[in-house]
Amino acid sequence: KRPVGAPDKELANKVTKVGIIGAGLMATQFATLFLRRLQVPVVLTDLDQARCDKGVETVRAEIDKLHDKGRIDADTRARLRASISGTTDKQAFADCDWVIEAVFEDVGVKQQVFGEIEQIVAEDAVLATNTSSLSVDKIGAKLARPERLIGFHFFNPVAVMPLIEVVKASKTDDATLATAMRVAKDLRKNAVITADRPGFVVNRVLAMVLGEAMQAVENGTPLEIVDHSLDGIGLPMSPFELLELVGLKVGAHVLDSHHAPFPDRFYRSDALHALAERGAKLLTRDGKDRPNGYTKDLQKVCG
Ligand code: 3HC
Repeated sequence: KRPVGAPDKELANKVTKVGIIGAGLMATQFATLFLRRLQVPVVLTDLDQARCDKGVETVRAEIDKLHDKGRIDADTRARLRASISGTTDKQAFADCDWVIEAVFEDVGVKQQVFGEIEQIVAEDAVLATNTSSLSVDKIGAKLARPERLIGFHFFNPVAVMPLIEVVKASKTDDATLATAMRVAKDLRKNAVITADRPGFVVNRVLAMVLGEAMQAVENGTPLEIVDHSLDGIGLPMSPFELLELVGLKVGAHVLDSHHAPFPDRFYRSDALHALAERGAKLLTRDGKDRPNGYTKDLQKVCG
């Protein structure tokens, strides 16, 4: 059955090489998944060679883990290890037909990296952004061919979470959308097509949950009560665990991007910004599986 809003799959282009802009936490998770599922060469790029090398090392360590868990055999491990590379030379992207960025959540930075890459890649290469809270239309505003830009939003941890939001911006064409749907399927993820709107679909809900949690503790509700508020509906992580998983900076950014267009509906948390700025932790990790305490940083937030 064709997913809601999906174009004819015959329009999809085959992906033979993947380029990833960024070599940090998200980028290396993408690289591991693309290598494993698409079995094509993957190249990473970042600001300097040391970051690229570290990214490649991380991906190779993840491939080794897959082997050690029995998920891939020794030949596949050797092939995948040889298929990842990292370089600051953007010309290595010239033969990539799928490029995805995982750089800082800033429109200007994303516009700049895509502006550079679009001059290097082939005409029909797809440019995908993993933005969680910026407008895909705005990211593509300076591109010569914005029709090949699409949102491709993963969830953390990338290897485990089953969903990808495929964000169709106003200029995204059907071939790009069809290719993105095919890539999502090849990655063995469920894809939903969403419009380019604040929070797409999932972060609308997440922003409400995290905003409510922050507002409640700032207003004096005990941390334990807020932190266990999701247990009743069976979510696998508490609000503060979720915040730590996605990163406090990303979390604060997600709240801002909802508060700006909908100030009456969504909470903007200055306290969360301050915690993010300080690189604060929220939870102590004395317990093996679940955290069992709150750091002084988080306790200070309580009103
Ligand atoms: N990174 C990579 N892999 C991880 C991981 C991590 N941080 N945490 C767990 N895993 C892997 C484990 O290695 C294991 O893999 P395996 O099956 O190959 O051995 C698998 O996940 C299951 O791990 P556990 O046995 O530890 O299982 P748990 O039952 O504790 O589940 C969890 C861990 C999957 C992270 C679960 O707690 C969960 O689903 N949490 C909710 C996550 C969530 O809501 N994510 C969305 C955040 S929103 C977002 O990302 C959007 C952004 O725009 C803000």
